[in-house]
Amino acid sequence: MKLLEEKIRTEGIVLSNNVLKVDSFLNHQIDPFLMMEIGKEFKRRFQANGITKIVTIESSGIAPSVMAGLELEVPVLFARKRKSLTLTNNLLTASVYSFTKHEENTIAISSQFLDSSDKVLIIDDFLANGQAAKGLIEIVEKSGAEVVGIGIVIEKSFQEGARQLREEGYRVESLARISSLNDGEVGFLPTINQ
Ligand code: G4P
Ligand code: NA
Ligand code: NA
Repeated sequence: MKLLEEKIRTEGIVLSNNVLKVDSFLNHQIDPFLMMEIGKEFKRRFQANGITKIVTIESSGIAPSVMAGLELEVPVLFARKRKSLTLTNNLLTASVYSFTKHEENTIAISSQFLDSSDKVLIIDDFLANGQAAKGLIEIVEKSGAEVVGIGIVIEKSFQEGARQLREEGYRVESLARISSLNDGEVGFLPTINQ
């Protein structure tokens, strides 16, 4: 997606050989116009697939997911990372290990909002090692729902997640694919549009 690549080129800050900071439009301040265009792009890629629900994870997955939900006209369900006062019953959970933070977290959604009739699009802001995406897949499949695809805003193709998920047979649609962050430069791969 050209507009997104342009935004990454002009506003992204390469923090190291494997971390890209995009706090000006995605992870802290949010660019609503860009999010709207991201929602339209996810619609273009998944509108033929009978999606009934989007599942994401707090916090940075929510903005692009809501815009995609608006376009695809489906609800957006976000997994929680922390215990909630009100979300306590019928929880579906998965354990997610973060390589960046070296910590294990339990993510949860209520089974009330997912069942075997659902065709789910999983969306997240970044795909790195794929632990978050795998946790979301585990939860969705526990509910009996089908994972139709995984929509990612920024894929770091040089890390393991994208390749592993595709090898497992999941359809991963990433709007920007980063080949390298070496020497302070962002390298892009052509996007795969299935
Ligand atoms: P993984 O799920 O793909 O294995 O990723 P990992 O554990 O390494 O990522 C932990 C957090 O860091 C996630 O956000 C993920 O989106 C984010 N992340 C991973 N690589 C990058 C990167 O290069 N740049 C940025 N900006 N973020 C990255 P989180 O902690 O769950 O935060 P949030 O969703 O609340 O913002
Ligand atoms: Na994040
Ligand atoms: Na995230």
